[in-house]
Amino acid sequence: MNILVVGGGGREHAIAVSLSKSSLTTRLVVAPGNPGIETFAECYPIATDDIPGQCKLARDIKADFVFIGPEIPLVLGLKDELLKLGISAFGPSKKAAQLEGSKIFSRKFCKRHNIPQPKFKYCTDIETAKKQIVLLNGYCVVKADGLAAGKGVVVCDTVNQAIIAATEMLENNKFGEAGKSILIEERINGIEASVFAVSDGNNAVLIGTAQDHKRAYDNDEGPNTGGMGAISPAPALDQNLNKEIFNNIITPTINGMKLEGHPYEGILYAGVMITEKGPKVIEFNCRFGDPETQVVLPRLNTDLVSIIQKTIKKNLGDMIINFIPQNAITVVIASKGYPGKFEKGVLLPSLKNFDNETEIFVFHSGTSKDKNENLVSNGGRVLSVTSIGANVQDCRQKAYNIVETINWKQGFYRKDIGKL
Ligand code: AMP
Ligand code: GLY
Repeated sequence: MNILVVGGGGREHAIAVSLSKSSLTTRLVVAPGNPGIETFAECYPIATDDIPGQCKLARDIKADFVFIGPEIPLVLGLKDELLKLGISAFGPSKKAAQLEGSKIFSRKFCKRHNIPQPKFKYCTDIETAKKQIVLLNGYCVVKADGLAAGKGVVVCDTVNQAIIAATEMLENNKFGEAGKSILIEERINGIEASVFAVSDGNNAVLIGTAQDHKRAYDNDEGPNTGGMGAISPAPALDQNLNKEIFNNIITPTINGMKLEGHPYEGILYAGVMITEKGPKVIEFNCRFGDPETQVVLPRLNTDLVSIIQKTIKKNLGDMIINFIPQNAITVVIASKGYPGKFEKGVLLPSLKNFDNETEIFVFHSGTSKDKNENLVSNGGRVLSVTSIGANVQDCRQKAYNIVETINWKQGFYRKDIGKL
C-alpha cells in the first residue's frame, strides 16, 4: 500500500516507524516529516495545515490512505477534502473533529449523552464569567473554546487568578477567536490518564493507555507543556477501570456521534481523571497524543496497517488488538526555555550510536538540518527517547542512560518520568 502520513513531530515519527514495519506497506511518504523519519521514508516539505498541498501529494503518490497525525488538519477538514478526491483517510471528519476543536461542543455533547464530566458554564462575556468564578470560589478551570496550542487552559486556585485568565481571553484577545467563548469549569481532583481508542464509526477498540507528564519540571512543578514524557500502560488504570472508561465514556461517545450524524472514525483520545466518583472526561482529542504515541505504539503487537484498513472498511467489529507485556517509557528532551521562549537551530549531538539499539527508539520531535546538513533543534520539544523494559524501573534506567549519553547541554529534561 502507498501511505501518506501528515505531520512532522515525534508522534508522526513513531507512527511512521510502526507503519514501516508492516508487510502491507510498499511506499511510505511523510509530509513534512523530519530528519529522523527521512532515514527510512520519503519526506516532502508540505506544511500540515496546507490542505490543498497535502491533497495534491496524496493524489500524486496514489495514496491508498492518508494517516492524519495532528489536530489542525483534522479540524480544518483534510479528511473531507481527501474523500472528495476518492482518497481514504485515517482520522475523523471536520464535524467529528469538533470533539477536540471546540471544548464547548465537546462539553455540551457529553451532557446530551450523560458522559461523566466536570460541571461547566459557557460564557461569552466577562460579567457572566465573573459570577461563575465567584460561585466556585475561584477553585475552577478557565478554558478557551478553540485550539490554542495546549495553552488555552488555566487551572485556578483563587478568584483573582481566574478573573485575570477569563479577562485575558474574553477582553484582551489572548487567543484570538479561540478565546472569544470560554468555559468556567468545576475543578475536579484525581489521577489523570490518557486512553486511546480506535473507531470505525460503529465499533471501538482500545489501542493503548498512557500517563502523560504535562508540567515542565520535576514533581509536577512549572508551567504546562505539550508533555515532557509518558509511560504506558497508564499506572492508574487496571482492567476494571479500562472497562469502566470504555463502557461509560468511549462507547457512548461513538454511539452519540453516530446518532448525531457525525460518525467518529479514527483515534479517539480521552483525557480522563479518576475521581472518587469514577472516571470523568477532562478533554477529548481527535488524534493520538504526543508524546503518548511514542509509548503506545511500541507496545502494539498487532499490525497497525491492518487496524487502519479495518477502520476504513468499517469492519473493526471483530478486531482484537494485542500488546506486548512490557512497559514503555519516553523522556522528552526539550530546548532550554520551553514552553516559554527558546532558541532554534541549536546544534544537536550525533544520534548515530543508537541506530542499532534494540528496545530503544530516539524519536525526533523538533529537529531539522542546517545548511551544512548538521542536525539542529527546531522546536520546543526536540527528541523523545523511548525504552521498553520488563518493568517500569528497567525502562526508566534504559531510557535515562540514553538521555544522559546524548548529553545535549542546551536542552533539559524531567528526571522523574515514570517514577512511581
Ligand atoms: P487540557 O488541555 O484540557 O488537557 O487541560 C490541561 C490540564 O488541565 C489537564 O491535564 C488537567 O490537569 C487540567 N484540567 C483541565 N480541566 C480540568 C478540570 N475540570 N478539573 C481539574 N483539572 C483540569
Ligand atoms: N500530550 C498531550 C496531547 O497530545 O494533547
